[in-house]
Amino acid sequence: MRKPVIAGNWKMFKLIADAVETALELKPKVANANDREIVIAPVFTALRTVSDRVDGSNIRIAAQDCAVQNEFGAHTGEVSPDMLRDAGCTHVIIGHSERRQFYGETDSSVNKKTKAALSAGLVAIVCVGESLAEREAGNAETVVKSQLESGLSGLTVADMERIIIAYEPVWAIGTGKTATPEQAQDMHAAVRKTIAESHGSGVADKVRILYGGSVKPDNIVVLMSQPDVDGALVGGASLDAESFSRIVNFDRTS
Ligand code: 13P
Repeated sequence: MRKPVIAGNWKMFKLIADAVETALELKPKVANANDREIVIAPVFTALRTVSDRVDGSNIRIAAQDCAVQNEFGAHTGEVSPDMLRDAGCTHVIIGHSERRQFYGETDSSVNKKTKAALSAGLVAIVCVGESLAEREAGNAETVVKSQLESGLSGLTVADMERIIIAYEPVWAIGTGKTATPEQAQDMHAAVRKTIAESHGSGVADKVRILYGGSVKPDNIVVLMSQPDVDGALVGGASLDAESFSRIVNFDRTS
């Protein structure tokens, strides 16, 4: 049984005070959700403060990106995975489509960042997903397969225990257009098959695959009812503690 992961990607929102307020409001609302993993990803500048304030709770902290290097060095503007650990992170999101589209992230940098994150002891949430044009051209699975093969290349079976995959179709992010549960299931099954081919079926059976793209309190249950959907990476609806807690506390029987 794969433990569900519900992660909130706060993107470039919230000053430190607001981030703390949201985290503190969230804490009691999700305190009983122990059969799922809860992760929030504030901006770099809020990581230390927020992680201090949720310390001892069941909320884990992710960064939204990291450097490809772990060693100290002349890399102006970069933040290493070791530094993220130092700031209280247990997870890091890597290869989000916004970084791929607007900040020059490539499959090769995703692979390097993933390896750097693992070497620092972080869990890497590796994002994949096709654009609308790629889906309309019938290439969605090919694109995602190739992102996975490159992004996870060279990772061992042990490494894969600290990898979470997030499938986020670019056309569903921030658009209010969620993939249908069937579209999500089909792609998640394809992701699992790709991982079975590259790392074996034992790894594939265990790896958590999250869906991202306009996840809301009112669509989480139907998404989570798909056999290969193991959680969600939530953008907009994670910014508000009440709506994020409703997603975290989704009830399969409702
Ligand atoms: P939305 O939930 O706002 O569509 O964002 C999804 C996302 O990009 C999470 O990483």
